[in-house]
Amino acid sequence: MASTFPRTFLRASRLSTTNANFAARHASPVFRRFLATPRAEQPRLRIGSEAPNFSAKTTQGDIDFHQWLEGKWAILFSHPADFTPVCTTELGAFARLKGEFEKRGVKMIGLSANDLGSHDKWIDDINEIGKTEVSFPIIADADRNVAWLYDMISTPDLEKLSKEGGIAFTIRSVFVIDPAKKIRLTMMYPASTGRNSSEVLRVIDSLQTGDKKGVTTPIDWDVGDDVIVPPSVSTEDAKKKFGEGNVREVRPYLRYTTI
Ligand code: BEZ
Repeated sequence: MASTFPRTFLRASRLSTTNANFAARHASPVFRRFLATPRAEQPRLRIGSEAPNFSAKTTQGDIDFHQWLEGKWAILFSHPADFTPVCTTELGAFARLKGEFEKRGVKMIGLSANDLGSHDKWIDDINEIGKTEVSFPIIADADRNVAWLYDMISTPDLEKLSKEGGIAFTIRSVFVIDPAKKIRLTMMYPASTGRNSSEVLRVIDSLQTGDKKGVTTPIDWDVGDDVIVPPSVSTEDAKKKFGEGNVREVRPYLRYTTI
């Protein structure tokens, strides 16, 4: 991990508070915010890692992330900045899908790299433009602490920041987190490309179906389509589990069933 980040940034991230405060006085405004906040080691986030905990201010009050999860499924989705066009369309779409996430027992939390005052004004715009009501909290990550912890900042932005200062955009990430606080999916999109909200729901359907039924799902799967018997289950056991006539063997390693 260390080698992917510019040395100057890594040095800055390890500064003691006193040194950081000194350095902060001599840095550009945005880099100053980075320097002023001593940073923890950045965890390597993989599928199956525990979602790192953090405290943050949100549009619905201060949270401790692990407490906020309440042992439920959750999505954490991040945005580069308030009052930007693609982000505005995304937040509106996620807000309109509240019922779909609720049906699946999934809590929603957004993040954008601005402060609460800005978020509150932006939400008014999102509601008006998207003909919706944003009812989930949005983390105010102006100092990009959560963005750093979840490795959401792009390499070019970190490099640019360490050389010349400027804005470190938070990239468009999605984390799906399960009731055991494990990361089950990460998606990373460039700032220029809005996400596909149906795909987020589709993956949640696949993960929840897999957990309940012990199956995997093929390309372009949607709820109701045939599912796959995983390699860890023998065809004999699959027939016992799903029904004698309900296992279609295309190859010994590719068996479909219906659920
Ligand atoms: C947008 O939401 O349109 C956007 C935000 C940051 C960088 C580029 C695009």
